[in-house]
This record gives sequence, structure tokens and C-alpha cells, in this order.
Amino acid sequence: MSDRKIVHVIGTGTIGEPLIGLLSAKREQLGIDEVTFHKRTPLYTDRSKVFGLFSRGAKLAVDADRRADFKDMEMEPAFTAEDALERASVVIDCTPAGNENKEKRYLDFVSTTKGFIAQGSESGFGKPYARGINDAALKPGEDKFLQVVSCNTHNMAAVLDTFVHRIHGPESLESARFLCMRRANDVSQDAAFIPSPESGEHKDEKFGTHHARDVHRLYDTLGMEPNNIFSSAVKLNTQYMHLIWFDVRLNQPTSREQLLETIQQNDRLAVTYKQSMSQVFSFGRDHGHYGRILNQAVFCLPTLAVAREGHEIVGTCFTPQDGNSLLSSVAGALWFLFPNDYDDRIQALREFFFHEV
Ligand SMILES: NC(=O)c1ccc[n+]([C@@H]2O[C@H](COP(=O)([O-])OP(=O)(O)OC[C@H]3O[C@@H](n4cnc5c(N)ncnc54)[C@H](OP(=O)(O)O)[C@@H]3O)[C@@H](O)[C@H]2O)c1
Repeated sequence: MSDRKIVHVIGTGTIGEPLIGLLSAKREQLGIDEVTFHKRTPLYTDRSKVFGLFSRGAKLAVDADRRADFKDMEMEPAFTAEDALERASVVIDCTPAGNENKEKRYLDFVSTTKGFIAQGSESGFGKPYARGINDAALKPGEDKFLQVVSCNTHNMAAVLDTFVHRIHGPESLESARFLCMRRANDVSQDAAFIPSPESGEHKDEKFGTHHARDVHRLYDTLGMEPNNIFSSAVKLNTQYMHLIWFDVRLNQPTSREQLLETIQQNDRLAVTYKQSMSQVFSFGRDHGHYGRILNQAVFCLPTLAVAREGHEIVGTCFTPQDGNSLLSSVAGALWFLFPNDYDDRIQALREFFFHEV
């Protein structure tokens, strides 16, 4: 590992491409010296995005046996994959193979690298992390592997944090039910679109779908055990963003005013009067970082209702595409690099946190 602060991103897909762009655009303000990225497959269709990332200052690493193919396509690699791992201070894996890459490659660099991060699908890679939710669980010098939880896990964790933990505390939770209405695929993807809404199974006897289980695992890192939480999922025939319906029951009363005040006090959350995904998505396109807003959740105010004399909170909130996972990925990398002031440094991204959408 060099003395310089080098963040190396593996994968240039749905999550990797915007992350490399964000890190490169804000590199100096974040305190990072260099951003490098690994691309596995040399493709003419992907060349334009590689050139775009070059123009923002990021440097390409490729597998040694693909180097000539990348050069033939005029994508000039700066490093081999191995050299890039050797130089990196922090590695952010943005592939669906984070666990496999950990076993095959990362463990060889564990003594020289400050830390490794993988994404939502890679359960078991390391300590689950969502910025602002479980930062207190991170142990400098001890935690080397983090798993940034999925975008919907961020959103559901934010609902519990806002309406339960910040109002009457964790003990006030009686139960929480969530319905994740998921986009079929991302706007960048051609595959897996569906013609009509599709119901998901409840594969987990205790938590319903993996979403509530992941929220439980996230809070477990703080020694909390939100047990009576349950999620269901449906896939919608849209490419825009996810929407979550929640029903939170408390053993103490609250009010709509108190909920609104709590949301306002948290810069990770936004509110909106918009009720359609297209409208919220479009706001991101015009005001976010290449379309991404970095809020953890966007509460849909017209749907927010308090029932049963203040003991039940019902409503919906939008999951702004993958912005919350991008933010936690940057926050995790900064935590490895600057454990004492990473939260100050991340304020360089403030312009993409919105109070109202
Ligand atoms: N929170 C969110 O909103 C969100 C959104 C999307 C994804 N994710 C998470 O992010 C991760 C990646 O998903 P994605 O949708 O971004 O995937 P994707 O669009 O399919 O992109 C995968 C990328 O990883 C590369 N890759 C795949 N296997 C690799 C390997 N074994 N070694 C090196 N590179 C490899 C591919 O490279 P080549 O194309 O060059 O072969 C591609 O650049 C998953 O864990 C997923 O759960 C989260």
C-alpha cells in the first residue's frame, strides 16, 4: 500500500460507475489522492463510460491477461488488477461477486489495505453498514470488511430510526410492517424488465423477505434487536425507483407534528409533496449528482398518517435509486481513511442532500 490515499473501485456497473464518478468529482474535497477502478471485460459498448471516467481523472486497472484487449480498444490501462490492489488504501467492491473476490483476492492484501467494502447482495462479506445508522458500531483497527446494506434496507432502517429510536427509543417499538415496491430493473439495464407487477414470496419465516432480516442484522451491530419487524416485496414494472409502504406500531403515542420535526432534524432524510416516482426521479435528474440524490429516504408527506390515537404511523417513502448506498460507500471509505473526521469530510457531498424534493 502506498502512503497516498487511494480508493480503488471494482466493477463499473449500476453502482460502480456512479460511485467512481462521484469519488472522482469530489476527490480533493474528500481528501482522496487518487481514484482507480477495475473493469473486467473489454467491450466497445462500455468504452464511452471508461473514457468518461478517464476525463474525470480516474485510472483504469485490468486483469493482466486482458491488458492487450483493452489497449486494442484504446482504453489505456494504468495498472494491472494485482498492482491496483497492492497500491489501494481502500477497496470498494461493486460487483455481485464480492464474497468470491474476498476469498480469491482480497485476503492476500488484508495486512496492507486499510479496508474493503462490498454491496447489498454480499451478505457475510463484513459488518453491515448504513451511514448515520450504525456508525457507533464501527471499530477502528478491528473492522476491515464492511458490507453496505441495500438501498431498501437503508430506507427501512431510516423509518425505524426516525419514528421509533429518535422519538421514544427502541423499547417503544411494538411492531413494524413494510411493503417494498421495487423497480423491475435500473434505467441503465436492459435485462429483467417485467410486463406487470409481480408478487414476491415470504421465504423467511421470521422476517418475511430478506429486507427486514437485513434491517435486523444492521441494528444487531449496535446490540439492538428489532424483532417484531416483517417485510413483503412486490416488483413493479417501472425502472424509476423503489417505494416503501410502512406501518409502525408504538407502545407510546406520537403526533404528526412530532414526526415532521424529527424528519426535519435529520439531514439524511427528505420530504416531498410529490406522489409519483417519475416526479421524484426527475428532481434527482435535475438537481442530483448525475441524477442521484444522496438522501436515505424521501418521505411522501401526503401519505403520512397517525392512527390509533398516535400509536400507529402509516405512510410511504421513496428510496432514491441507489443514492443512499453510494453515500454509505463513500462514508465507509472515508471512515477507513480518516476515522476521526470522516463525517466532517463527507459534508463535501452536502449539495446532494435535500430537505425537500
Ligand atoms: N443499492 C442499490 O441501489 C444497488 C443498486 C445496484 C446494485 N447494488 C449492489 O451492487 C452490487 C453490484 O450490482 P450492479 O447492479 O452494479 O451489477 P452490474 O450492473 O451487473 O455490474 C457488475 C459489474 O461488476 C463487474 N464484475 C462482475 N463480476 C466480477 C468479478 N468476478 N470480478 C470483477 N468484476 C466483476 C462487471 O464487469 P464487466 O461488465 O466489465 O464484466 C460489472 O462492471 C451488488 O451487490 C448489488 O446488490 C446495489
